[in-house]
Amino acid sequence: MCAMTIEIYGDHHHDGVVDLWREVFPNPSPWNEPEAVILKKRQVQPELFFVALENDRIIGTTIAGYDGHRGWLYSLGVSPAWRRKGIATSLVTHAERVLTKLGCAKLNLQVRVPDNGAAAFYRSLGFEIEDRISMGKRLDRGPAGV
Ligand SMILES: CC(C)(COP(=O)(O)OP(=O)(O)OC[C@H]1O[C@@H](n2cnc3c(N)ncnc32)[C@H](O)[C@@H]1OP(=O)(O)O)[C@@H](O)C(=O)NCCC(=O)NCCS
Repeated sequence: MCAMTIEIYGDHHHDGVVDLWREVFPNPSPWNEPEAVILKKRQVQPELFFVALENDRIIGTTIAGYDGHRGWLYSLGVSPAWRRKGIATSLVTHAERVLTKLGCAKLNLQVRVPDNGAAAFYRSLGFEIEDRISMGKRLDRGPAGV
């Protein structure tokens, strides 16, 4: 484990997070552009946006959310140079602690296919692949229900 701290995202972290996400999550869809994701998360539960820092440098992130029923994790990413040092484990563990304090009893997440090792990572933390069909719908392409 390296000397690393975890903080709630602040505006001074903006450029470091954008740089990290451009490296770790390349070719994002328009709604996943780093600037757009940051802007929206600053407006909704900003206290659940965590960054991992090494000497003021952003080396990891995760975004959590809690809707009163389930918790969700997104945007977990660690700089390639800092992987396999427990950074993501610390970020997820931190988010789990904060969510638990909010009353969250179940945490969900999605892993994109093809999987690049993320599922193995989550399994190492006790997450299990569940017998579910993952569905989604964009609400920014017209009225709901259309
Ligand atoms: C997945 C990711 C977040 C893991 O970050 P990390 O800081 O390297 O993870 P940790 O060091 O905390 O790993 C803890 C354990 O998870 C498992 N693990 C982590 N990465 C793994 C991989 N690529 N393949 C298999 N197992 C892995 C190992 O058991 C590891 O323990 P070990 O290093 O003692 O063997 C990182 O590889 C990453 O940013 N990937 C690209 C973005 C991504 O896919 N994010 C997930 C979105 S769903």
